[in-house]
Amino acid sequence: MPSQTVARYTPVARLLHWTTAVLVLATIPMGFVLLDLPPGRLQNTLFDVHRSIGVLLFVLVAVRLAWRLTHPPPPLPAGVPAWQHLASAAVHHLLYAILLIQPIIGWWGTSAFGAPINVFWLFELPALVGKDEPTAKQILAWHGIIGITLSVAIAIHIGAALFHHFVRRDGVLRRML
Ligand code: HEM
Ligand code: HEM
Repeated sequence: MPSQTVARYTPVARLLHWTTAVLVLATIPMGFVLLDLPPGRLQNTLFDVHRSIGVLLFVLVAVRLAWRLTHPPPPLPAGVPAWQHLASAAVHHLLYAILLIQPIIGWWGTSAFGAPINVFWLFELPALVGKDEPTAKQILAWHGIIGITLSVAIAIHIGAALFHHFVRRDGVLRRML
């Protein structure tokens, strides 16, 4: 019911959700296009921005999880079927897991590649491992596979949010607005 009042996520949870969403939606396409660019200044800058956003996301998601564990979300509206409770929990767990693992894999692969990780031109992250290009290629291939998995999970997540809002009109999206 569109006019029904719904219990919402806390303002902090909403702020963290939408900040994460904007950063993730910026950094994924950046990851996919930067390899197609010719080597040079633009590619290097995009690499720096992609890695910096990735590092920031790791910190934000860690803070968000700490907040989430101490502030349980509002209950889903009555009438949401049990399978949708399960499906949303599964996708949310997957999103959190990938957003924590992906930056570490990026850091690991970049270290093995021997490239510096310049975080917003403020400081450099230390290398996690020594230079080893064949290993770097394998690790970064996993970074790509995980990036595609994340994109699919986000498409399902956004599709579900829009389905609840425009088709079922049950207030699920308004809990996060
Ligand atoms: C949540 C954070 C991140 C997401 C969602 C993400 C996503 C992606 C995606 C989708 C690609 C394209 C992969 C491909 O075309 O095969 C990519 C490429 C890349 N990312 Fe990330 N990334 C994140 C964090 C990081 C971090 C923290 C670093 C390094 C510190 C990093 C380093 C790289 C590198 C070096 C590539 C190029 C891969 C290659 O050479 O094959 N990423 N990233
Ligand atoms: C693009 C990156 C996005 C990521 C990584 C993301 C991630 C998440 C995560 C992890 C949760 C679970 C919150 C919890 O712990 O309870 C969540 C909830 C939610 N998200 Fe997103 N989200 C993104 C984009 C969006 C967009 C674009 C929309 C709307 C169109 C949206 C709508 C919602 C809604 C309505 C909830 C609450 C769902 C519920 O409690 O069942 N999200 N999001």
